[in-house]
Amino acid sequence: MRKRIIYSICGVVVAGLVLFGIYAWHPEIAPVTPPAKDQFPAATVAHGKVLAAAGYCSTCHTAPGGQEYAGNYQMNTDFGTIYSSNITPDPETGIGNWSEAAFIRAMRTGVSRDGHHLLPAFPFEHFNKMTDDDIKAIYAYIMSSVPAVKQQKQANGIPFPLNIRFLQAGWKMLFADTSAFEKQSDKSDEWNRGAYLAEGIAHCGACHTPRNALGGEKYSHMYEGAAIDGWIAPSLTASSKSPLPWRQQDFYEYLRTGNSLFHGSAAGPMAPVVHHGLAALSDDDIKALSVYFGDLAGNNSEDPATSPKLQAAIAAQHPMPDARINQGARLYATACASCHFSGSKLRKGRPLLALGSATHLNDPTNLVNVMLDGVRSDQGIPGVVMPAFRDALSDDEIAAIAEYLRHSAGEQPWPNLQQKVGEIRHQPRFEH
Ligand code: HEC
Ligand code: HEC
Ligand code: HEC
Repeated sequence: MRKRIIYSICGVVVAGLVLFGIYAWHPEIAPVTPPAKDQFPAATVAHGKVLAAAGYCSTCHTAPGGQEYAGNYQMNTDFGTIYSSNITPDPETGIGNWSEAAFIRAMRTGVSRDGHHLLPAFPFEHFNKMTDDDIKAIYAYIMSSVPAVKQQKQANGIPFPLNIRFLQAGWKMLFADTSAFEKQSDKSDEWNRGAYLAEGIAHCGACHTPRNALGGEKYSHMYEGAAIDGWIAPSLTASSKSPLPWRQQDFYEYLRTGNSLFHGSAAGPMAPVVHHGLAALSDDDIKALSVYFGDLAGNNSEDPATSPKLQAAIAAQHPMPDARINQGARLYATACASCHFSGSKLRKGRPLLALGSATHLNDPTNLVNVMLDGVRSDQGIPGVVMPAFRDALSDDEIAAIAEYLRHSAGEQPWPNLQQKVGEIRHQPRFEH
C-alpha cells in the first residue's frame, strides 16, 4: 500500500517535471542574414524610434560612457549583478541576425533567439502588453537606424542556483503576467490609451509596483509604491503620502516637465523616465497617461492653491524665529531655506520641502539621496541645480535636518535615522 502511494507520488512528480520541461523548453529560432537597412518604411522607423525612447531601451542598454544600445549597463539586484545585452544590429554580439519573429518572442516571453530564458530585469512582462505592430516598429528602428557595435555581454553575477536559466521558466509560470492588454469598455479611449502606454512600453509598474520575495510584481497592489535601485518609487494611487492629492493636471505637469508645483521634482531613476523616455511622446499621449493615473489616484479635483494643507506646509517650512535651539532647524535655515522657502507664495524651482513625498514616505531614502547627491541640471526642472551635500554635511547633520523637516511637516520620526543615513551614504550609486 505504502509502496503504491510512493510510486504514484513519484509518477506525479515525474509527469510534472516532464510537463514543466515542455513548458520551459524553447527552440532556437534560426539566425537570418541581417535585414537591409532600407527595407523598412520611414513612418514605421519613426514610430519605432518614439517607442524605443518611451521604453527607455537605451537607458538600460547603454553602459555609462559606452555606446548606445551596446549593453553591459550594470544592474545590482537583490539576486545579484545583471548586465544588459547588446541590442545593436551587430550579427555576432548583438541582435543583427535576429528575425522579426525572434525579436517578438523575446519582447513577449523573455526568451532569447537561441532559446535561453532571460532574467526579468528585462521588463518583457510589460512589453508583452504591446501590439505586434508596435513591437515590429521597434525592431524596424533598431535594425535600420542603430549603429552596429561589436561588444560582448559581460556574464551576470547571479549565484547558483538562481543562475540556472531553465529555472526562469518556473519563475515566469508563477509570477509573470503574460496576458494581452485588455481595453476596459467602461473607460474612455483616452484612459485606455494611457493604460496601454503605462502597462506596456513605459512599464511604470516595473518600478512603482511592490514585488514579492522572489521579485514578482504584486498585481493586486499595482502602483502602490516600491523600492528600486536605492530609491523609493512612491505610490501613484490613492494611497499616496503626498499632502496635496495628485490631480490629473499635476501628473501632466510632472510627466511633461519633470516637476509639479504642488509636489516636487523627478530625481534619481525617475529623471531619465521623464527626460529621455516620456519626452519622446506626444502631448496627447502624456495627457492620456495623466487621465489614467488621475483616475487611479481618485480623480481629485480640489484646488490645492486654496487648500489648508498648503498653508500648513508653508507654515511648516518657515524658518524658526530662533533656530539656534535645534540643530536641524539651524542647519535648515542656513543650508536649505534660502532656496526652499519663498514666503507665502509657492514658486517653481523652489520646492517646498513639506509638500514633497520624500518628507512623507515611510522611508527616508529619497530625502537622504537628494541631500547627499543633489539634483543635476539635466534632472528635475531642466537648468536648475540642487547642490550635493555629501562632502559638506556629516551623517549626524543630515539626520538632524531630515528629522527637523519630518517633524515640522507633522510626521512621526523615522526610526534609526542616523544609522540609515550612513547606510545610504555607502550604498552603490547608480548612474541615472
Ligand atoms: C530595466 C532595464 C531594461 C529595459 C528598460 C530594457 N531592457 Fe532589454 N534587457 C535588459 C536586461 C538586463 C537584459 C538581459 C537579461 C539577461 O541577462 O537575462 C535585456 C535583454 C534584452 C533582449 C535580449 C537580447 C539577447 O541577446 O538575448 C532584447 C531583445 C531586449 N532586451 C530589448 C529591449 C528593448 C527593445 C527595450 C526597450 C523597448 C528594452 N530591452 C528595455 C534590461 C532592460
Ligand atoms: C526606473 C524606475 C521608474 C520607472 C520606470 C517609473 N518611475 Fe516614477 N518614480 C520612480 C522613483 C524612484 C521616483 C521618486 C523620485 C523622486 O523622489 O525624485 C518616482 C516618482 C514618480 C512620481 C512622483 C510621485 C511623488 O509622490 O512624489 C510620479 C507621479 C511618477 N513617478 C510617475 C511615473 C509614471 C507615470 C511612470 C511611467 C510612465 C513612472 N513613474 C515610471 C521610479 C520610476
Ligand atoms: C542653491 C539652492 C538650493 C539649496 C541651498 C538647497 N536646495 Fe534643495 N533643491 C533646489 C532646487 C532648485 C531643487 C529642484 C531641483 C530640480 O527640479 O531640478 C531642489 C530639490 C530638492 C529636493 C527634491 C524635492 C523633490 O521634489 O523631489 C529636496 C528633498 C531638497 N532639495 C532638499 C534640500 C535640503 C534638505 C537642503 C539643505 C540641506 C537643500 N535642498 C538645499 C535648490 C536648493
